[in-house]
Amino acid sequence: MKLLISNNKLQSAIKLFANELNTHYENKEVIIIAILKGAVLFLQDLYVHLDFKNNIEYVDISSYKGKKRVEIKSLPFDINIQNQNILIIDDICDTGNTLSYITDLINKNNPKSVRTSVLLKKKIKNSIFKPDDYLFLIPNKFVVGYGLDFNNKYRFLKEIYTLD
Ligand code: IMP
Ligand code: MG
Repeated sequence: MKLLISNNKLQSAIKLFANELNTHYENKEVIIIAILKGAVLFLQDLYVHLDFKNNIEYVDISSYKGKKRVEIKSLPFDINIQNQNILIIDDICDTGNTLSYITDLINKNNPKSVRTSVLLKKKIKNSIFKPDDYLFLIPNKFVVGYGLDFNNKYRFLKEIYTLD
């Protein structure tokens, strides 16, 4: 394993990003949707800096991944997002399938606004989704740590590593 991003670098980028969100959402209320399990550490460190009103919902998208998208007609949680500001938080955008799936679903429910923010974006050509924010652009390699796992291992690490 090779260190890719230190915890110091993660924390400074997260703090800057939180300030940007605080400006963007000033005097607004936001529903934060965090994609399990990878987004949890990122959200936890981001959350301490946020100062706008919000509610958090956690969505386990991976369990829906295998199914045909047309089969899923409603959001996998029980809240009304109509006319709400939605902030989607995930650990990483790779192929973009996860984010494209969840934003399609959310947009069908007429939210007021949707912003998608990921900690990491892989530098790949064929990503089908462009997140509004990414804190780090990384090489197209498998990474672990800080919420990201390999077969449920390494999630707890405080830094991000490449597996090679
Ligand atoms: P996508 O749908 O291909 O964009 O992949 C997104 C999901 O796959 C992320 O939320 C992660 O859970 C997982 N994933 C993608 N790349 C990696 C990686 O390099 N390490 C660990 N998990 C990853
Ligand atoms: Mg994930």
